[in-house]
Amino acid sequence: MKKELLDKDCISKFENACKYELLHAQTYRHLASQMQGVGYFGAQKFFLKEIPEEESHFQKHIDFLNDMGVTIDIPAVPAQKQEVKTLKDAFTSAMELEYDLLEYYREFIQKEGLEYGDIMQHLMFFVEVQRKTVGEYGDLLARIELAKDDAAALLLIDQELGK
Ligand SMILES: [Fe+2]
Repeated sequence: MKKELLDKDCISKFENACKYELLHAQTYRHLASQMQGVGYFGAQKFFLKEIPEEESHFQKHIDFLNDMGVTIDIPAVPAQKQEVKTLKDAFTSAMELEYDLLEYYREFIQKEGLEYGDIMQHLMFFVEVQRKTVGEYGDLLARIELAKDDAAALLLIDQELGK
């Protein structure tokens, strides 16, 4: 049996982070399907691409924990039932989700990263990913706002999302 190199509190923060990453994969699966349902095939493609990204984030934590001698229970992902019918709603909820996690990782670093360089180094990757994602969604939402209710403009944005 491996010796656990992290304390209980730190492990529980990692468990939460794993849960977040799986929840994000699940949410993107949902958003992709909702966008497909209303004919925004570009947004569908965009969200589908996020799923393996999120799964790789989850795995990165699992691998780090393994290096630290820790194995965790795999968290359950909740069902997604909320109707999402517009690009604005889809990207607003994606933005909220990712911003939440940026804040989570910021706090995580502050509480656990300052003492141990290896934890800091591992978490730095995640704050950077979150910062870039939040920025990207902010830009997209700005463009969606510019298009307002102009269906043609929204379809153009959708087309770009699919590239
Ligand atoms: Fe992620």
